[in-house]
Amino acid sequence: MSTLIKGGLVVNATGAFPADVLVAGEQIAALLAPGFPVQADETIDAGGKYVIPGGIDGHTHMEMPFGGTFSADTFATGTTAAAWGGTTTIVDFAVQAKGTSLLATLDKWHAKADGNCAVDYGFHMIVSDVDDTSLKEMESCVSAGVNTFKMFMAYPGVFYATDGEILRAMQKAREIGGTVMMHAENGIAIDQLVAQALAQGRTDPVEHGLTRPAELEGEATSRAITLAKVTGSPLYIVHLSAAQALDAVTRARDTGQNVFAETCPQYLYLSLEDLAKPDFEGSKYVASPPLRPREHQSELWRGLRTNDLSVVSTDHCPFCFKDQKELGRGDFSKIPNGIPGVEHRMDLLHQGVVKGEISLERWVEISSTTPARMFGLHPRKGVLAPGADADIVVYDPTAKQTISAATHHMNVDYSAYEGMEITGKVDTVLSRGRVVVDGSGFRGAVGHGRFLTRELNQYLV
Ligand code: URP
Ligand code: ZN
Ligand code: ZN
Ligand code: ZN
Repeated sequence: MSTLIKGGLVVNATGAFPADVLVAGEQIAALLAPGFPVQADETIDAGGKYVIPGGIDGHTHMEMPFGGTFSADTFATGTTAAAWGGTTTIVDFAVQAKGTSLLATLDKWHAKADGNCAVDYGFHMIVSDVDDTSLKEMESCVSAGVNTFKMFMAYPGVFYATDGEILRAMQKAREIGGTVMMHAENGIAIDQLVAQALAQGRTDPVEHGLTRPAELEGEATSRAITLAKVTGSPLYIVHLSAAQALDAVTRARDTGQNVFAETCPQYLYLSLEDLAKPDFEGSKYVASPPLRPREHQSELWRGLRTNDLSVVSTDHCPFCFKDQKELGRGDFSKIPNGIPGVEHRMDLLHQGVVKGEISLERWVEISSTTPARMFGLHPRKGVLAPGADADIVVYDPTAKQTISAATHHMNVDYSAYEGMEITGKVDTVLSRGRVVVDGSGFRGAVGHGRFLTRELNQYLV
């Protein structure tokens, strides 16, 4: 089976040029001069459109246990929504429950995902217990294609790790070619602020933001960077939201340390004002780190331009407004943490191109090429080139759409971006050569997605 994607502007991180893309089987066979005569079974007209490598969302939580409930998207619904939005690979977090083994955790996540994904997927591992057994098992995780390990400086009593535990895990990561991913917020201090707020009767969703000040993200980020420096471990800061944290990352990168960071669309477009919406509406925007005052946004865009922020992932973690966010009515600390977004990352970042915040090539770089290299999937993913997987998005840069829960495909009853008008729209999506989305709708299949074993972070020096 061959497909010719004809007449589009091919956009890679390294440049944009008119070319036809020939797909043979699951891979890209050739980039051809426009109109070069070639036979193909199927032709897709990409005239006036961009042809880009499929998006890679390096941070999702499908079916994740949290606070007595589960995030609302299954691997089936979440990866289908991803495909609709031009994301053809996700990397999801397997969560080690305290007292259980990392390998059993990996098995558990395979049982949830295998045969149930519409697009390709990999895993990161959340390490909740740092002991001799877990540290040893990190080696087996690397052999099983999982070389990124998330730890938490937040959530005491749940995922929280002490500085000593982080140090030990970082030493192991350094030894085995792993990268530690850090949720960097000072959870010990935050828990005091939360207890004080509740004792004073301050229970609304906005208090979630007020009790997690940006300074405590900056402090934790600096501390994680220091521990990484002492141990020589690479460090990847997840969901960076605050200018103070970005400053710490920038300083570390300027001195040549292997420190990387991602931000998420919610921190670029939403703010503390959303958390302050009345009638418990603010609960829709509860995630950690919290949405920040608007002035942080321009700093994050600057970070994306200067490459102090390397990646934009969604931290997709959907909880329904009606039956799940509700758990925290009367006590903001019980609102399940997370915002849905896997479907809209490519569109939201395209607004950065429309507004002149980032270039067209940078859009592709932060949403596909860098995640591919950072998470050991390149050159299979993240680039349009002969031999790469034919994960391809035909994107119409002038189409208009309005984001709404009424039309999205995520299994959640609200959109954090409800009513937002978007310039640009996914037209056609191929996953390993198969058209999974086009004008006629979803043409993919749950079960088409394959597990990806991942190799070394290509940015390590
Ligand atoms: O609030 C969030 N971000 N929920 C998902 C879990 C995490 O910390 O990434
Ligand atoms: Zn986190
Ligand atoms: Zn997350
Ligand atoms: Zn629901």
